[in-house]
Order: sequence, then structure tokens, then C-alpha cells
Amino acid sequence: MKSSSICIGLLGCGNVGAALVQLLTEQHESVKRRTGLDLSIEAIAVKDLDKDRSIPLPDEVFTTDSASIVNNPEIDLIIEVMGNIEPARELILQALNLGKSVVTANKELLAAHGAELYSAAENSGVDLLFEAAVAGGIPIVRPLRESLAGEPITQIRGIINGTTNFILSRMSQDGVSFDEALKEAQELGFAELDSTYDVEGYDAGAKVAIIATLAFGVEVTSQDVQHEGISKITVEDIKFANQLGHCIKLLAVAEQKVNENGSSEVGARVYPALVPLSHPLAAVNGSFNAVFVEGDAVGELMFYGPGAGGRPTASAVFGDVIDAAGNLQRSHGALIGALDKPNMIPPENLESPFYLNLKVEDQPGVLAQVAEVFGDHGVSIQSMEQEGMGSEARLIFITHSSREKDLFSTINSLNSLSVVSSVDSVLRVIGD
Ligand code: NDP
Ligand code: HSE
Repeated sequence: MKSSSICIGLLGCGNVGAALVQLLTEQHESVKRRTGLDLSIEAIAVKDLDKDRSIPLPDEVFTTDSASIVNNPEIDLIIEVMGNIEPARELILQALNLGKSVVTANKELLAAHGAELYSAAENSGVDLLFEAAVAGGIPIVRPLRESLAGEPITQIRGIINGTTNFILSRMSQDGVSFDEALKEAQELGFAELDSTYDVEGYDAGAKVAIIATLAFGVEVTSQDVQHEGISKITVEDIKFANQLGHCIKLLAVAEQKVNENGSSEVGARVYPALVPLSHPLAAVNGSFNAVFVEGDAVGELMFYGPGAGGRPTASAVFGDVIDAAGNLQRSHGALIGALDKPNMIPPENLESPFYLNLKVEDQPGVLAQVAEVFGDHGVSIQSMEQEGMGSEARLIFITHSSREKDLFSTINSLNSLSVVSSVDSVLRVIGD
């Protein structure tokens, strides 16, 4: 097979970038033999030239001048794994406008400025590929863009943040504290530089925005996503959830529904929820992710695998690089297509069962007062457990499916009852 040289510029050489250089070096000959592509990394942009990267490339390839790499006419393809919105956005736009294909793992950027970048790629007829931006090493972006392009997708639900899943797994299975588990996730290269981006649900929010955009063909941004994180989940919540036959997972949900007026509405949310131990999502532990796709024609699909970490993510980036390099040879690029503005589902109309954890005075008649508040707001109780704590008691409720609007008015009323000391946790519950 005749070989074609493709010169690559790499922006960023941290967890993902360094693993990519390693993988590309290991696989260079095999890829060249199978595809005819002779891939070489010509230049790498970093912030700190003195850091030891332990990668098999000479010091001369490193620079702090990212723009010089993008503007270098010898470079055909740019890989962006530096993170953050700027300067990544400007550099990618410049590369696309110069007719270079781009591969990125940057979900934060795509969830904020995806439409602008997709159209720049389309105008230049080059690729902007981003398999690694959602669920690390799991192929989910390409299936949504290509294999499922004609599927009427109704719902996508899953665990799409490795760091929070790792923390919750370590807390529940090994009794490790939140802070200790987060430290481990950082050391293992799962967490973002600013870990609040993972812990408070922003990362999963960006990913579900990208998923909803691809699945429903509308421009969903991070700002359209309601997100909650796991920072308020306590060891006690995990213990009670286990006693009730559940575990706690940070879930992301994208859905499309037809409302009562006959128009289509899209929802995209991230929240911690109680998941029955018998549910397949309960078996997704550590930094693993899983994504369930439901469509009218295909039924249900499940994608599962490592959702974070340098090497799994580098694998997804590498696949995109080979695809984009091949497309450069054939002079065509993959398109996202036209994106409409979404009509988002009003959150107050969403329904689910809820878990509530209340501290109350331990006196006769308290339970009746509390139960009456639920009834007044039309929220039906499915189960209740009580645990004594001296002069106070802990009440754990699971409700039947209730509208968020009704549930949050119930909480307001409970907070104003003198016998209720505090409503400590409120979490959604998903069914089997
Ligand atoms: P790191 O923080 O480990 O690496 C970032 C790299 O970019 C570093 O080499 C840093 O340089 C360089 N860099 C940052 N800003 C600049 C700048 N302005 N100019 C030049 N170089 C810069 O991040 P990760 O490798 O973990 O993540 C990279 C991207 O991949 C992010 O968008 C992340 O969200 C995404 N991602 C990460 C996954 C993971 O599991 N880690 C999984 C999926 C996606 P220096 O080394 O000198 O500091
Ligand atoms: N910080 C991200 C996570 C990396 O933990 O899932 C993968 O996108």
C-alpha cells in the first residue's frame, strides 16, 4: 500500500496527550501497514517546558507557542487536548479555517461553542471529530453521529462521569471518605484540573448537552442542562440507600418527548439518584461509564467501558485521528448537519419517585403530621423507615412518582413544620 505522510500538531501533553503520544508510537507501524497512513507528531504545545513528560520524543518538538503549531503550513491535523474554552476555541477555529482537520476531547468547549465549530469545519470541508469528549474510551459519539443517524431516539440515560462514579463506588464499597476518593481519582488522571467541574455535575452536564445535540439534531448547550452534583451526598445517604436495596449514582438523562400541544421537547439533566441494586447501572463501578440508548426502531442499546483516564481516552482520540487523516487523503469530512434551536421541557413538569431523608423530633404524632404534608401536596408515600437518634429520629421516605413541582412544595411545607429539624437529602429514584 502506498503510504501518505500526515503531520500532526498536538496541543496539550498531560494525561491524555502523553498517553496518545505513547499509543501512537506503539501502533505507528501497524497503522501504517493497515491504512497506509504514516502519522507523525511534529510539534507539541504545553505550558511548562521543564516538566518531565516521559514520552519518546525529543525536547525540540515542545513549544509554548500553540498558535505557531496551528499556523505551521507543514502541519495537516491538529489534536487539541489542552482543555478549557480559551485559547482552545480560537486555536481550533483558526485550524479549521486554514483547512486543517481537528480532533478534540474538549467537552466543555463543544458544549458551549459546538455549533460555531461544527459550521467552521463544514465550511472548510474538513473534520472536527470528538469521540473522546463523551464517556472517555467508549465509542458513543460515532454511533450517534453515524450508525444511529436515522434512529428516532427517545431517551439516553447513563453514567458519564468517571470521577464521580469512582468516588461514589469507593465510598460505598470500601468506606473511603469523599476527600480521599477524590484525591485518588486525581492521582489516577480521571479528574479535571478543577475537580469541582466533575463533582458539581458540570462535566456530565457538558457531555449530556453534546449527546442531546447529536441524538436530537438540536443545539443544546451546557446552559440548557439542569445539573446537580454529588458534593452533598453523605456516607449516611449511601448507607440508607443500601438498606433500601439501592446504590447512589450520578446520572445523566437526555430525552425527547411530544408535549400536549404536539410539539417536540427536549430534556437534558444531571442528578444523583438512587438506583436499584438489580439495575444494570448499579454494576457500573469505578471510573467506568455506561450509556443506554432507547429508540423506537432499534429498542435498547447499552454502551459500557472505561469513561476516564489517559490511555482509554487516548484510544478514542487515536481512532478519530486515523479517521480524520484518512478523510484528508480522500478530501472529504464528516458532517454534523443542520441544528435547530431546542424547545426544552419545563423542569417542573418532570416526574419521578423521590428519596427524602428528614430529621424530626421523636414524639407521638410527628409521623402523622409529616405524612399529612405529603398528602396535602398530592405526593404519595411508597415506603418509610425510621431510625432513633436520642430525642430525634431519622425518617427516610421513598415516594411514588411525583411531579417535581409538588415534591418541592412538600419540602417547603416540611421545612416550616416545627417538629421537622431538617430535610437533609432529597434524591430522585429510578425504577428497575
Ligand atoms: P491535563 O491537565 O492533564 O493536560 C492539559 C495539557 O494541556 C497539559 O500538558 C498543559 O501543559 C497543556 N496546556 C493547558 N493550557 C495550555 C495552554 N494555554 N497552552 C499550551 N498548553 C496548555 O488534562 P487532561 O489530559 O486530563 O485532559 C485534556 C482534555 O481532555 C480536557 O479537555 C479534558 O476534559 C479531556 N478529557 C480528559 C479525560 C481524562 O480522563 N483525563 C477523559 C476525556 C476527556 P502543562 O503540562 O505544561 O501544564
Ligand atoms: N473528568 C472526566 C471524568 C474525564 O471523570 O469523566 C472524562 O471525560
